[in-house]
Amino acid sequence: MKTQAPSAIRERVRDLMPGLRVDLETLVRIPSISHPGHDPSQLGRSASATERILRDAGCETKIVEIEGVPAVLGHIPAPAGAPTVLLYAHHDVQPTGARTLWHSEPFEPIEKNGRLYGRGTSDDKCGVVMHAGAIRAHEGRTPVGVRVFVEGEEEWGSPNLAKFLSRYADDLRADAVILADSGNWRTGQPGLTLSLRGIVACDIEVRTLDHAVHSGEFGGPVPDALTVLAKTLATLHDDRGEVAVAGIVRGKADPLDLTEDELRKQVGMRPGVKLIGEGGITDRMWMKPSVSILGIDAPKLTESTNQLVPSAKARVSMRIPPGQDAEAAMKALVEHLRRHVPWGAEVTLTPRGHGRPYKLAGDGPIYDAMRKAMTEAFGRAPVDMGAGGTIPFVADFNQAFPKAALLLTGAGDPFSNAHSEDESVDLADVERSTLAEALFFEYLAGR
Ligand code: BES
Ligand code: MN
Repeated sequence: MKTQAPSAIRERVRDLMPGLRVDLETLVRIPSISHPGHDPSQLGRSASATERILRDAGCETKIVEIEGVPAVLGHIPAPAGAPTVLLYAHHDVQPTGARTLWHSEPFEPIEKNGRLYGRGTSDDKCGVVMHAGAIRAHEGRTPVGVRVFVEGEEEWGSPNLAKFLSRYADDLRADAVILADSGNWRTGQPGLTLSLRGIVACDIEVRTLDHAVHSGEFGGPVPDALTVLAKTLATLHDDRGEVAVAGIVRGKADPLDLTEDELRKQVGMRPGVKLIGEGGITDRMWMKPSVSILGIDAPKLTESTNQLVPSAKARVSMRIPPGQDAEAAMKALVEHLRRHVPWGAEVTLTPRGHGRPYKLAGDGPIYDAMRKAMTEAFGRAPVDMGAGGTIPFVADFNQAFPKAALLLTGAGDPFSNAHSEDESVDLADVERSTLAEALFFEYLAGR
């Protein structure tokens, strides 16, 4: 294999960008939402489009299904003596939420100020494109062996992943894994993610009455279920905004250079609203638990009448820091809710799936190679960062292949609005992240 100077690879990636952008747009046009209730054939379409992009880049590919969910596998054999890298991304996306909240069609990509907008542009279809671009930068003859795994159920918690990892172990074995499903520290400033939080979630239903009754006639002595639910949910935080569920691990994170002001801009926080909880901001986002109410089933205002609501439901989610056992956390959450339901109301608790947290050491020659590649590609060194989100693949893969080094990257940034309306990715960062990955292959191969 011929050595390529960084500048040659840089030029190739630049030349590849128009084509990579078309590939990204093709993927974004497919509404591959993995949540139940959405057309599952779209996952088949996005798997096919992903396969085509990887095949054109030079991979041998196949689409495999577990429980009907299609994933894409790719392969380029390792040159003699060279290590193998597994490239991970996911081709499914989150639902869009209300169309009226978007400034453009969610599945019609458009560019504005150097960013491409549309569902999945950052989470995680740019990951597919980064991998294809890094392979193409070497014209399909990568200096390392390449395995690719693009799953189709990440946004639904990857329920079949364990089965998948054992069934396709031979297709996934690698010395290093690049998971292009985290993001950069800032636009134009690279980050290498070294920790992820896990997640547990639970549905709670409370009931006070067999049926609704007149709120004037019986209100006073008779409790309504929505008030019971509100009181229960209000116990999940103390007055400072600290998570009140007992026994969850708490840790410390590097504060880095993030200020409250910058965070407020990133999330569009209204001026009078205060941050909640205690400790550093990065502690609170990466190394401490957080609890959120994701949704409530209760009468809509337009359908509400003067009645005492007989039952109500909520979905509660808790992010858990590295070091916290997920099953113990689920138990703590369920028990907290059960104990705090007031006035003897009936309660049904339904635990939902969980994803484990993870912390990486982040040192050794494979990380050195990635840091060197990122520094070269972005013109500045990557920040060692944490992430508050969850990628179930990380802990599961580590359990199956404990020796592989896990590298969490991604072209998105804090303004990408992942899961929200107006999701976007900075196109210059897609180029830089692709270049970093292409250079990493080179450096990992020992050049
Ligand atoms: N890409 C995210 C995870 C992420 C978010 C990493 C922010 C780094 C920073 C991923 O696609 C995701 O959203 N995962 C889900 C997993 C869940 C369904 C089990 C999540 O975190 O909600
Ligand atoms: Mn996501």
